[in-house]
Amino acid sequence: MFMQKPIDPKKIKSRQSIYLKEPYFPQEFIKKYKALLGSEWEEFFSTIKQEKENTFWVNTNKATIEEVKKSLKEKGVEINQLPYHNQAFTTTHPKPSNLEEYESGKISLQEKASMLPAIALNPNKGSTVFDTCAAPGMKTIQLSNMVEETGSVLATELNDKRHSLLDNIVSKFNCKNVKTKRIDFRNIKRNKKFDFVLLDAPCSSEGLIRKQREALIEWSPAMVRKKAANQKNLIAKSFDYVKEGGEMIYSTCSFAPEENEEVVMDLLSKRKNATVVPIKIEGLKIRKNDLCENCVRLFPQDNDTQQFFLAKIKKETK
Ligand SMILES: C[S@@+](CC[C@H](N)C(=O)[O-])C[C@H]1O[C@@H](n2cnc3c(N)ncnc32)[C@H](O)[C@@H]1O
Repeated sequence: MFMQKPIDPKKIKSRQSIYLKEPYFPQEFIKKYKALLGSEWEEFFSTIKQEKENTFWVNTNKATIEEVKKSLKEKGVEINQLPYHNQAFTTTHPKPSNLEEYESGKISLQEKASMLPAIALNPNKGSTVFDTCAAPGMKTIQLSNMVEETGSVLATELNDKRHSLLDNIVSKFNCKNVKTKRIDFRNIKRNKKFDFVLLDAPCSSEGLIRKQREALIEWSPAMVRKKAANQKNLIAKSFDYVKEGGEMIYSTCSFAPEENEEVVMDLLSKRKNATVVPIKIEGLKIRKNDLCENCVRLFPQDNDTQQFFLAKIKKETK
């Protein structure tokens, strides 16, 4: 693995246009994570080279958990509920996108770690939620389920094509309590703040390497720095939409401290009423974070997930 020929990202038309037999790791990425992970680097790299079990979320806008369990059982599809949430499942089915339950929107296909931001935010029934960076909308479905008919979700997306994807998802998964807008979320004008805010931030996407072998082709330390500068602005703006006493989640599928702990600490230095509060999710191994208290860095080898980062931030009342 560590003798791979370097790939020049400038010579690639698009990530989709190339085929790789094995995941590609830039030399600088390997160097960085060997230094950061110490004795755990081998386990980390061997885990992120492996493919994962398929996972899905039961969309209660279309069916109950029992209905989905029953129809999959009748087809002989093996499933197992994850301890994190009663709507989260793993399956040994090789292609769940072929299932009628997916076609009809009764289940959505979502990576295990990617389900966690909404689970950690856990907005209650009837609450207002702002999903600031929403497309394609996998977490929007979860939020829509959680707040039920009496709650509402505003889902914004900057990019035109991705906003269309978001609209399709909202319609397919019957998210009647979701309103979408194609806009830079920082320009939303609103007098009333939200009970809950999710910032699933645009990032260097390091965690995608477990499902896309080419995910790291455009990765570079400069790219990570650029993403981090943007994230520092996005997190402060997201926090400003949280009402007093309310909570937000900041999440990325990156492992880089620059895009994660440093971003959260930047917010704490700018907003004195921001506190990072503990995240507890049944069955999820969470390590103590020495860089930023209560921030959650998910090591892929701990829970068989992609690399992921989560922080739950509360807006204290003055
Ligand atoms: C990590 S993806 C979100 C994935 C999504 N939460 C999901 O679970 O399906 C980040 C998204 O944020 C969008 N984005 C970036 N900056 C934005 C901004 N200022 N306002 C709204 N959307 C933005 C990007 O176009 C991208 O689609």
